[in-house]
Formats: sequence, C-alpha cells, structure tokens
Amino acid sequence: QHTRIIGVPTDYGANRRGVDMGPSALRYAGLVDELSSAGVSTEDAGDLAVPHHAIHDADAGGENAKHINEVEEVTTALADAVADALSDEVTPLVLGGDHSIAIGSMVGSARDADIGVVWFDAHGDFNTPETSPSGNVHGMPLAAALGIGDFEGVEWANAPRLKEENVAIVGLRDVDENETTAIQDSDVTAYTMSDIDERGITEVTQDALDVATNGTDGVHVSLDLDWLDPREAPGVGTPVRGGVTYREAHAAMELVAESGAMRSLELVEVNPILDEHNETAAVATELAASGFGKRIL
Ligand code: ARG
Ligand code: MN
Ligand code: MN
Ligand code: MN
Repeated sequence: QHTRIIGVPTDYGANRRGVDMGPSALRYAGLVDELSSAGVSTEDAGDLAVPHHAIHDADAGGENAKHINEVEEVTTALADAVADALSDEVTPLVLGGDHSIAIGSMVGSARDADIGVVWFDAHGDFNTPETSPSGNVHGMPLAAALGIGDFEGVEWANAPRLKEENVAIVGLRDVDENETTAIQDSDVTAYTMSDIDERGITEVTQDALDVATNGTDGVHVSLDLDWLDPREAPGVGTPVRGGVTYREAHAAMELVAESGAMRSLELVEVNPILDEHNETAAVATELAASGFGKRIL
C-alpha cells in the first residue's frame, strides 16, 4: 500500500485559530512512522499553499459563509492534489485543517470515479449558507459536495460523482435545527450515538460501509476528531461530550481497512492549541494506521 500525505493548513472554515496547525501536529505525532508500522509506504507531499489574510476576524464581515472565497481557493487546489494522487495510484491522506477542506477531498476523489462517503463526526456538517447559525463553512461540506440549497450548481463545491444514497454519517450528537430537517429530507443515512449505543460500533460501521460501497468504486473516509469523546480527543474546536471511545474508534477504522474500499482518507479538526500534549494528533495518527490495516498480530 502506498499513501501520499497532503497537508492543508487552513482554518478559514472554522471559528477558531489553531486548526491550521493540524498538519504540523499530526506529523510531529509520528504519522509517517505509525503508517510504516502498518506496512504502508508514505510520501509526504508537504502542505498546500493557503492564502494569507491580514485580518482573520471571527465574523469576517457578517457573511453567511465566512471566507468562502478562501475556502474555494484552498479546496480547488486540494481537489487537484487528491485527483493527482489517485491517478498516480496512491491513496491520498489529507491532513486538515478544518472540515471545510472535505469539499476538496470529495470533489477530487469523485472526479474519475463513483464514490461513497463515510463521515465520522459529532456533527452533520449539512448546513448551507442560508441555514447555518454560525456562518462557518466547516459546518457545510456535506451539503456543499451534494449540491444542496445554495450549493446547487456551484461547480467548485459539488462532488461530480457522489450520490446522497452513498453517504453515511456516523456518530451524530450535535445537529442544528434546520440541519436536522435537511438530513431527514435527503437520502443520506445518518447514525446517531444512540444507534451506536443500541447496536454497537461494529454493526453500525458495517452498515455505513455497505451504504458507501453500494454500487460505487470506492469510499472517501472523513474523520473529524470531534467524533471521539472530548476526554480522549480534547484538541478540537467544537467538542461535544458523549462521543465514541478510543477503542470504538479503532474498531471502526479496522472495519474500514477490512472493507478494502478506502479510496481516500482525511483527518480534520485537530487543533494543537486546544490540545493536551498533542494527544489528539497522536490518536488521529493511530486511527489512520488502523484504517490502513495495522494489526497487532
Ligand atoms: N453545526 C455547527 C455549525 O454549523 C458546528 C459545525 C462543526 N463542524 C465541524 N466540522 N467541526 O456551525
Ligand atoms: Mn477574511
Ligand atoms: Mn465535528
Ligand atoms: Mn465535521
């Protein structure tokens, strides 16, 4: 197995500074070594250039989608980098950065293939500029890629070969009011933490993988570190208590590896400023290794 690391040091989609240092934190945590222990050969393509903004204010002029032009610029470059890796037959491993970058990962991954998506997250990330209570684009990438609401026909944001029926969200526990309706009105499959409580992580993840692989050529796996409980992954900008445990997260990533369907992977929302001793980045690197097939025996 071969993978190519693509760092995307951006925080334009988030309400907190610091998530732009995610790629550094993940490398410092030993990502390349961890992957080689999984038997994966890794090339590090470095970081994409992220446009610089003199004033990065939290409300960015009161737009409904803050810094959307910067998000477009970054995700467009990322889409090309992801598509390039896939055409070189290496698995893209995208390091965020905030979750807005998933737009680029999905657009790039879906350029030359029918893809499914498994979205491990506390949040639905299904807002649109119209429905978002915050205006932060990291709460919108799934709606953007699927062309929902204001994103309909927005070429740079729509993943060309991704269908709602091949998207599964796993671990939901914080969804905005209008977002709930949008998820229910769509054909995506959403598993809440209650589903995991009732059925267990193994069954739920297996179902999610079935949704994402059904009729597709491969799966983009999007791992927002706030999927985990904040006690185990404190270094995130939008923590929500009641998340999955370290063990559950590994079990899920092992199933991802077993499916043999992972086409691209991204690790997002790691914020070393908010972290404790880079723990969240360390957990993320270990989960990536499990996703690439690391086994103890
Ligand atoms: N639902 C909230 C919003 O739209 C929070 C989104 C958090 N997303 C994330 N990728 N951390 O602002
Ligand atoms: Mn700005
Ligand atoms: Mn989240
Ligand atoms: Mn997210």
